[in-house]
Amino acid sequence: MKSYNIAVIPGDGTGPEVVREGIKVMDALSKRSGFKLTFNFYDFGGERYLRSGETLPESAVAELKNYNAIYLGAIGHPDVKPGILERGILLRLRFELDQYINLRPVKLYPGVDCPLKNKSPEDIDLVVVRENTEGLYTGAGGCLKRGTPDEVAIQESINTRKGVERCVRFAFEYCKKRNKMKKLTLCGKTNVLTFAFDLWERTFYEVAKEYPDIKVDYAHVDAITMWFVKNPEWFDVIVTDNMFGDIITDLGAMIQGGMGIAAGGNINPRGVSMFEPIGGSAPKYTGKNVINPLAAICAGGMMLEHIGEEKSAQVLEKAVIKVTEKHLKSLSAGQMGHSTSEVGDLVARFVTEL
Ligand code: IPM
Ligand code: MN
Repeated sequence: MKSYNIAVIPGDGTGPEVVREGIKVMDALSKRSGFKLTFNFYDFGGERYLRSGETLPESAVAELKNYNAIYLGAIGHPDVKPGILERGILLRLRFELDQYINLRPVKLYPGVDCPLKNKSPEDIDLVVVRENTEGLYTGAGGCLKRGTPDEVAIQESINTRKGVERCVRFAFEYCKKRNKMKKLTLCGKTNVLTFAFDLWERTFYEVAKEYPDIKVDYAHVDAITMWFVKNPEWFDVIVTDNMFGDIITDLGAMIQGGMGIAAGGNINPRGVSMFEPIGGSAPKYTGKNVINPLAAICAGGMMLEHIGEEKSAQVLEKAVIKVTEKHLKSLSAGQMGHSTSEVGDLVARFVTEL
């Protein structure tokens, strides 16, 4: 029997509640399809930091490298200054595990209320390939004379040929494998960020020559936000830098029905990848059993696909669709018509019945 070891970081806020439901569904799938999942829990997050002053212990990264994948709930705590946990845990894991792709599908499922008028599931089915280790996220820069009238703050966007090229290559390969519209759009800002996106643009069109079957397109990031609302059906796969990818995938989450359903994977194709719902820790809903676990469940599906259980990932998606189609009043926390654990129960039941 195939067997996989998964590191679980439930994290902060509603993270533990949604992770519990994701594990419930993955356990049901493993029984159904005959593979074994072993989950090992790590208590990284705000509570641990407040208790011990430590974000990640020294041994964490080396230890996490021994797993088949990492399953993450949420990082962010209202009593911890913004940036400490994000940089100290989430970004540190992305960087040190060299998870250079942040893969974020934007897919409107049947039955889900979409804020866009006259758009249906056929219109909203795209994937954003976000660079995940460079750009404005590296922490490069600094400040001078902080708190004085002469204060200077510099935050630099680092773009390396290697980093850009491996991301662009991943996007072409992914687009080819996805085999949908076979269209890859570079999202940038070549009209203003004339150093960074010159590198992106040149790399993109150079690599494109190796993929004659893939249609290539370019759009400025501001225009993309307009088209996500007006013509989301134009897009198949989009590749972009870290910051733009962060921003457009929140918009993407909204057009697919909200943070309650948006999942993502931090991918290192040759290392250990980490899967997470893309919404935050939602402190105001913590412990109330009202948060939507579907994003975490879908992240579990992406993880199963990644470790090689593609068929189970497909079953999971079908079960999620059954839930969105027939059982949920809304995807919003507290308005689903079901509790967090009931939604998990439904998906777990459907994966065994399908
Ligand atoms: C995300 C989040 C993170 C990011 C934060 C929490 C650091 O917004 O995963 O999109 O900016 O990448
Ligand atoms: Mn974000």
